[in-house]
Amino acid sequence: MNHTSTTTNGFAEQKDLHFGLEPASMKLRHVVESQQFTLPLLMDLFTRSRGMERIVARGGSLDHQNRILATLFYAPSTRTRFSFEAAMYKLGGRVLSTEQARAFSSEVEGERVEDTIRIIGGFSDVIVIRHHEEDGAQRAAAVSPVPIINAGDGCGGQHPTQALLDLYTIYRMRPLDGLSVAFIGELDKGRTVRSLAYLLGKFERIRIFFVSPPELQIKPDILEYLDRRNVQYELESDLNKVVGEVDVVYQTRIHPDRGADLPVRQKYAINSSILQRMKPDAMILHPLPRTVELDKTVDSDPRALYFRQATNGLYVRMALLTMLLESQ
Ligand code: CP
Repeated sequence: MNHTSTTTNGFAEQKDLHFGLEPASMKLRHVVESQQFTLPLLMDLFTRSRGMERIVARGGSLDHQNRILATLFYAPSTRTRFSFEAAMYKLGGRVLSTEQARAFSSEVEGERVEDTIRIIGGFSDVIVIRHHEEDGAQRAAAVSPVPIINAGDGCGGQHPTQALLDLYTIYRMRPLDGLSVAFIGELDKGRTVRSLAYLLGKFERIRIFFVSPPELQIKPDILEYLDRRNVQYELESDLNKVVGEVDVVYQTRIHPDRGADLPVRQKYAINSSILQRMKPDAMILHPLPRTVELDKTVDSDPRALYFRQATNGLYVRMALLTMLLESQ
């Protein structure tokens, strides 16, 4: 049975399937939003990611030598760009890169992203793009001759590969069905939270607490999606009320320019007092970078997984690159 359809964006949209049905990885052309990932596709990705852990431990592979990854970043990044580039090198491939496309690409001359992608797509086998506008990755995918991977779009779009590595980090620790998660911080524009909420909605008996100042709460589009999936959720402004109930504490930054002054940002911070309230086997995740919302003293707590989470980005991105390169 064919469960895919082509959207106006030109990428194959994966309808929800269940484990045990035919894996749909061959249909993955571009990675623009996390809703594209079906359960079989996630299982395929995570199985490959486990394999990548072993390949990295052996020093990498040469399976994709002569393949070229282009990284096109219109906005700053440390983890995403470096991990994608490291992933391609670990697979034996090569990398073309601009980490400041707004200054060092022909956008400065007024070139539209569509033209830039058509050109770079002629030189490379896969393109990773972080665009400063919410539709930047979709516009790129609509014209690209090679796979596009969205590495974060705009302020409030999505960051699907971050959500994939977040989910993989949890999956390595425990089953995903029955999970309870608290998302904390600036949720309305939180690309990683938005993408991970979409993925969590695909599993059974998920409970989500969205914890933030009311003016920064998660947007209705995510809640409507969770309603359609019958996912239980609550909107909460007091971190203390929920932190002892959840398996995963997913912390994010509140940017100072969002009108939240330091005392408000500290009210949502994880510190020694919050640690004492958390379950003994809970996980603390953060997409990073961090500021005041995650005290450095938390780093030595065994529940702090955010550096391992970032390392998992290498394995998951290696796995994703192989899926896309092998489906060409
Ligand atoms: N988590 C994340 O996207 O980090 P970077 O902005 O450093 O890529």
